[in-house]
Amino acid sequence: MKILIVDDEKAIRNSIKDILEMEDYSVETAENGVEAVAKASKEKFDAIICDIKMPEMDGIEVLDRLVADGIESPVIMLSGHGDLETAVTCIKKGAFDFISKPPDINRILITIKNATDKANLVTQTRILKKKVYGQDIIGSAEAVGHLKDMIAKVAPTSASVLITGPNGSGKELVAQNLYQMSNRSMGPYVEVNCAAIPPELIDSELFGHKKGSFTSAIRDHKGKFEQADGGTIFLDEIGDMSLAAQAKVLRVLQEKKLTPVGGDKEISVDVRVIAATNKNLREEIEKGNFREDLYHRLSVIVIKVPSLEERREDIPELISHFAERIASDSGEPVRSFSPEAVKLLKEKNWPGNIRELRNVVHRLIILGGDPVSAADVRDNVDIN
Ligand SMILES: Nc1ncnc2c1ncn2[C@@H]1O[C@H](COP(=O)(O)OP(=O)(O)OP(=O)(O)O)[C@@H](O)[C@H]1O
Ligand SMILES: [Mg+2]
Repeated sequence: MKILIVDDEKAIRNSIKDILEMEDYSVETAENGVEAVAKASKEKFDAIICDIKMPEMDGIEVLDRLVADGIESPVIMLSGHGDLETAVTCIKKGAFDFISKPPDINRILITIKNATDKANLVTQTRILKKKVYGQDIIGSAEAVGHLKDMIAKVAPTSASVLITGPNGSGKELVAQNLYQMSNRSMGPYVEVNCAAIPPELIDSELFGHKKGSFTSAIRDHKGKFEQADGGTIFLDEIGDMSLAAQAKVLRVLQEKKLTPVGGDKEISVDVRVIAATNKNLREEIEKGNFREDLYHRLSVIVIKVPSLEERREDIPELISHFAERIASDSGEPVRSFSPEAVKLLKEKNWPGNIRELRNVVHRLIILGGDPVSAADVRDNVDIN
């Protein structure tokens, strides 16, 4: 663990340095703000302890620079007599905590431990999110190129997005990529499958409820929109959402406000909405199942995910990709597919699109030979 201590007083720098070195931290020091910012942008510190009152560049300015430069090391401020208020300002600006001077040994050690624990959690979360939500979109067909361009353009904006496309074509994957590439990627990502929630519960699932608002509401419940505050909500199968819930979603989009079931207070939320459906929403509007105004709100940006038929040339690449993924999940060597087997799969119809292809590759790896042959395909796959 590496810590940077910034203070213009040599005695303070050295006493904190001694304490930390006794606990096996490796310590660097800086005697002014300029030196501190330079050191922090050159190497990564697990925490930075920074005095507030310093000649020339003071602690607040150091903090501002670090935040502006995107340096993520937690910063602990050292506040002397009379600058408690400044210390509070620093916390608002993103400092992790503050310690009053003269610094107490235990307080320093505990605060550093808390700061580095938190920094570790943030890193872990980022790695995990990348693993779960950061899967690449495989394919080089023209239609996929368009899709990726569209995602790159739309992701960094806060615009709501409607993703359409047939079953298993990769709508959820597109939503996850939008989230990963957005500037809300450090915020929450909440997925809701609207088709899986009974209509009478969808209101309370999405918008929360107050204790006692219906028989089984034994305590306050935070809805998915509130959980997604500051981040992104993915409303999957939005075509299956009740009209009542649609009205509330529209209100969140227009006014950034919602009211929980049984509540009388409005709650403000800042949520980016990504929705997906394999239904034809225009037809649903005709039938009176979908609100036209919500459709217009959502469809400012529509991303249409191509069917596998529109991108057949990607089938060989997708087969290798799934064969590799399956091998790495099971720890077995990667299985190959004979050119004839690939050809048969390339010509087959794929009503279930990429999900179906993935399942077929899995089946052939279990049941077929090495390499998987054309005969294996004929025996185990309905090649219509
Ligand atoms: N371009 C792609 N590259 C790699 N994997 C893909 C790609 N598109 C889809 N997949 C994989 O195919 C499977 C189905 O994709 P996904 O769940 O995103 O489809 P969907 O359109 O949401 O399906 P449904 O209509 O059933 O909700 C997932 O395992 C996904 O990771
Ligand atoms: Mg889906």
